[in-house]
Amino acid sequence: IGQSLTYFEELESTNSYVKSLPADKIDHGMLCVTDNQTQGRGQYEREWESESGQNLTFSLVFKPQARERFHVLTLACALAIVDQLQEIFNDPQVCIKWPNDVLLNGKKVAGLLTETMFAGNKLDRLVIGIGMNVNQTSFSPGISSEATSVQLKKGHSVEREPLLSNLLRRIEYKYNLWQRQHRALIKGINRNIVGYGQWVGLKVNGELKKNTFKMLGINEKGQLLMLNQDGGIESFSYEQIRLIT
Ligand code: BTN
Repeated sequence: IGQSLTYFEELESTNSYVKSLPADKIDHGMLCVTDNQTQGRGQYEREWESESGQNLTFSLVFKPQARERFHVLTLACALAIVDQLQEIFNDPQVCIKWPNDVLLNGKKVAGLLTETMFAGNKLDRLVIGIGMNVNQTSFSPGISSEATSVQLKKGHSVEREPLLSNLLRRIEYKYNLWQRQHRALIKGINRNIVGYGQWVGLKVNGELKKNTFKMLGINEKGQLLMLNQDGGIESFSYEQIRLIT
């Protein structure tokens, strides 16, 4: 992973770029990185803000066999980020906010955007875009109370190149676990999800649920399993629910 690398000083969006390439220009493990992403996109049609030259904004292309489990792969990449940050900070205050955020001290330090492209009904490519706030120290007013960066916690700036190469090594390792459908991977993800084993609030299809649900962790499709107050287990995809934490 990351053997074939395309770097741009500036690009609208690394995800959009790798999606725009013709199929014969795409290899499994391809990496696209930019220093200045001008129209970064996030989950749920949000924007992804990233100060030029300060952070990591990159996309990885996968051509996996097991297409139905790809939400777990996104979470596996999030876990790779959690592991990396835990090594930097030696601190348990890093966790995954299902389905696609990484939190540091309760604030967002990284986000992932996974997109699929099909050729007929065959999966042609899976694009996992990662934005990680590394050395950015101020954020626009709309997100400043919810965003943080590695530098803000560390107190000094951090070199991005070794961070990226360490992350890629970890992602490759998780990818291999994911392919083997390793139970340990799901367990590792669950152990690091905010709210795991706790009663949490939920918005289901935009509607706030009065009762809380106990989070049982993800299943092998990456859906969240929740115990309702009647003792029944329900599974939810990321399109259906938002967690209220
Ligand atoms: C989110 O938090 O909603 C996901 C943010 C994903 C941002 C990354 S940055 C690299 C890649 N290119 C994009 O346009 N978005 C992703």
